Amino acid sequence: MRVLGIETSCDETGVAIYDKKYGLLSNKTYSQAKIHAYYGGVVPELASRDHVRKTLPLILSSLKHADLKPNQINAVAYTAGPGLVGSLLVGISIGRALAYSWDIPSVPVNHMEGHIMAPMLENNPPKFPFLALLVSGGHTQLVSATGIGLYKILGESIDDAAGEAFDKTARLLGISYPGGAILSKIARNGQRKRFIFPRPMACSNNLNFSFSGLKTFAANTINKNNLDDQTRSDIALAFEDAIIDTLLIKCKQALDKTGFNRLVLSGGVSANYILRKRMTEMVKTRKGEIFFSRPEFCTDNGAMIAYVGMLRINSNMSKDLSIKVYPRWSLAELSNP
Ligand code: KG4
Ligand code: ZN
Repeated sequence: MRVLGIETSCDETGVAIYDKKYGLLSNKTYSQAKIHAYYGGVVPELASRDHVRKTLPLILSSLKHADLKPNQINAVAYTAGPGLVGSLLVGISIGRALAYSWDIPSVPVNHMEGHIMAPMLENNPPKFPFLALLVSGGHTQLVSATGIGLYKILGESIDDAAGEAFDKTARLLGISYPGGAILSKIARNGQRKRFIFPRPMACSNNLNFSFSGLKTFAANTINKNNLDDQTRSDIALAFEDAIIDTLLIKCKQALDKTGFNRLVLSGGVSANYILRKRMTEMVKTRKGEIFFSRPEFCTDNGAMIAYVGMLRINSNMSKDLSIKVYPRWSLAELSNP
């Protein structure tokens, strides 16, 4: 059984082929970051147009890479939401058309479930139940996962997502979109304690997050200081410390609340080295286990979509040609396949 996975929910075109017996046979990602950098964020119309240009060539090169013919693919999985409606429509249209012409079923996949499951592609995958911290450009969620499709959202951001806060603050520091990884890089030269940023909602009696104030705090700090290289690094470090501390505090509270001892980090921000390091230390002190993906599977990719498609092959799959995307599709709406 082999599944072709197509991811086009935002600004990465991802295509992968997952084989039930042999695992991942091919995984290709094309990032549109350069296109959107000029505008400081994703421009939806440009994103969908570029998916139109890139998806089919990536599918052809994936088949070639895996040395497969179309008749050796058994199902097509595509991201059906959440995401940008125009971009999602490209993936579903191509996915459904190919499945129809190859006479195989197609399976809609929830992008967030893809992120949560991505660490399952690594050696030593997590077992259920676990707590997932999903930190991407569009979402920050703490999720209790007790089985495939059995998710409960314990807390989430009430404004900016963690990745969005990284990108907005990076922009204020003159770093082009998406700036999260570069901000973290310049933070390595920062002096700790020169600036102290707040830990938003650390003392609230719920598991929600609020990160938009950190960006304002960064803007005010920048206005009061001469932005030389050292100051940029100092501000970047203070910001990164604040985000990571806050995520850490809430993860500890969520682990206490659920009684789980497994923590899964996923989504683009989980590629952050310091976040991984500090979460690993925290989980170790609790004698728990931590799981995360290799960096290319933290950000958007087709591998996670092909993998979830394989898990869901018997549920929701269809051969009809209707086109339906779900720009706001919560994990809480999913069920066990
Ligand atoms: O999961 P993802 O590829 O896209 C969404 O589904 O949103 O996440 C992209 C986000 C961006 O905001 C990017 O700046 C952030 O992940 N990111 C990072 C790092 N690498 C990517 N943020 C902080 N540190 C990093 N190393
Ligand atoms: Zn994503």
